[in-house]
Amino acid sequence: MQNSSSKTSFLLTMCLLVAGLAGAAPSLAADAAYDGATGLLTLPVVDVPGTGVVNAGLRLSKDNPIEFTLQSAQIYSTAVTLNSKSARVRDGGVLYIPSAQVGSQLYELNMTLIRQDPITFGNLQVLGVTNVVPPAPDPLQLSITAGETRYAQLCASCHGSNGGGAALGPNLVASALTTFSPLRVKINNTMPPGNPSACIDSGSSTCATDVTNYIINRLQR
Ligand code: HEC
Repeated sequence: MQNSSSKTSFLLTMCLLVAGLAGAAPSLAADAAYDGATGLLTLPVVDVPGTGVVNAGLRLSKDNPIEFTLQSAQIYSTAVTLNSKSARVRDGGVLYIPSAQVGSQLYELNMTLIRQDPITFGNLQVLGVTNVVPPAPDPLQLSITAGETRYAQLCASCHGSNGGGAALGPNLVASALTTFSPLRVKINNTMPPGNPSACIDSGSSTCATDVTNYIINRLQR
């Protein structure tokens, strides 16, 4: 234990020495991220017990076996709230990274402090790999996008491509219909004139809702 705590405190001293060299702004919500093009592993926040929170960057310095050398570190003097994905320095100089994004995968890693000058981590141990879950698409944005297509097909010829009105149809941007329900009903029941069933909400069709969302959120903004 004596040995491990002296290693850890040496690491802390080095972090202090290079503190301020890194200019990168902290991004506390982000996972650690590895950029294969630059070989840089950015650790947004690392909890170093006894010292506080460090923003560190490690550069890949050896491919086989993999080693990362500390490239930059910056200590936060003010309190920073950590989330469960923050990297931590554990007993024995083990750097635990719970969530490092490499391409489209999230790695959970342990690395050991193997050299102190320059500070180098190695003995990479992969604890788990999961695929990055893409954020669920926002239903309103999907509706707006679908509405944009339908508007161009069914409405623009009379109301103009930007809703500003044309020879055959009034200005929709300046229309008094600016809230969802009345606008949707107007479209669903009467537009386009002569063929109102071309843009209705029925069965799998959500044309009236989509076009309404598009008009309100794009054309009338
Ligand atoms: C053939 C030309 C034509 C097409 C195509 C057309 N409209 Fe119209 N639209 C009109 C005319 C003319 C009016 C004015 C008469 C009325 O309110 O029925 C109008 C009125 C409207 C109004 C009411 C505006 C207000 O301020 O009262 C809305 C909303 C509207 N159209 C939306 C649409 C949408 C959405 C589409 C496509 C799904 C569409 N229109 C297709 C000609 C057209």
